Amino acid sequence: MLDKIEQIVKNFNSEIENATQKDIFEEIRNKYFSRKGLIAELFEDLKQLSKDEKPKYGQLLNQTKNELNAIFEKYLENYSSKNLESSFNLDLTLPSKKKNLGTKHILNQTLLEIKDIFKGLGFSIYDGPELESDYYNFEALNFPKDHPARDMQDTFFVNKNFLLRTHTSPVQARLMQSTKPPIRAIIPGKVYRNEAISAKSYCLFHQVEGLFIDKDVTFAELTGTLIYFAKQYFGENVKYRFRPSFFPFTEPSSEVDIWWQPKGKTGRWLEILGCGMVDPNVLEFNGIDSEEYTGYAFGLGIERMTMLKYGIDDIRIFFDNDKRFLKQF
Ligand code: DAH
Repeated sequence: MLDKIEQIVKNFNSEIENATQKDIFEEIRNKYFSRKGLIAELFEDLKQLSKDEKPKYGQLLNQTKNELNAIFEKYLENYSSKNLESSFNLDLTLPSKKKNLGTKHILNQTLLEIKDIFKGLGFSIYDGPELESDYYNFEALNFPKDHPARDMQDTFFVNKNFLLRTHTSPVQARLMQSTKPPIRAIIPGKVYRNEAISAKSYCLFHQVEGLFIDKDVTFAELTGTLIYFAKQYFGENVKYRFRPSFFPFTEPSSEVDIWWQPKGKTGRWLEILGCGMVDPNVLEFNGIDSEEYTGYAFGLGIERMTMLKYGIDDIRIFFDNDKRFLKQF
């Protein structure tokens, strides 16, 4: 009996020392500790011993079993922690995986740039509703009743009195009615037009409205401000021109064109904004004394500004959300 025990302990020790894989540990566990394993077999042998010997060997067997068990668990733990270590065996000097971070939409970047320039000139930023009334969108801005923009063909009417604003100018009227001059405001936002969609026009686009009302505001201040703006945005060498124009809410009115010349193509003038001195009728209609105050206003297209700066020739691409386009900025 003693020999048998010694032999089993010897075998166990050499097997456990050489165990290098998870399933070898499982084999050893089965071979020695399972219900039909070698240790259970030894306990079976006990039955054949005499009454005197039984307690002595019983005790020895129990002790041996506990010891082997402890050794087994120790080796197993050792093995597991080593293997865990190797799975954490990272090279921390390797470059990390590239994460694709989103970027600001290019229209938003342009808007931020525009806001920054005007904030530097002391303008504050306001906004107004996209669902607008005919009253603010047209009437308060001196549009005659039969103006083509008031037609369903050009404007998305929601009902007889409400529409999706066709420009950011109605916020001018809202500001004049709610704020005492001086007013020095920038109003960015979405505008909607019921137009055939093409490379040049989309049913939705973005504008930035500007409004400055104070005592003795002059046309020279308007041009000075817009030239400064164009140089800041397009660069010192930008070629621009002021072209006389007409808007119901400004008098005199003008449009500003920028010279656009993509490499290898013939250049041409492209309009970026409309502007003018706020019509005294508009000041009066909205509660500002036109004898005391004058003002200028302008409205520029964010898509147009972006297209010019980056040489983009199709407005629809801003709204496609094609990552190949968006990723370039
Ligand atoms: N609201 C005009 C448009 O959408 C643009 C515009 C022209 C705005 C002249 C102005 C302005 O404030 O003075 O076409």
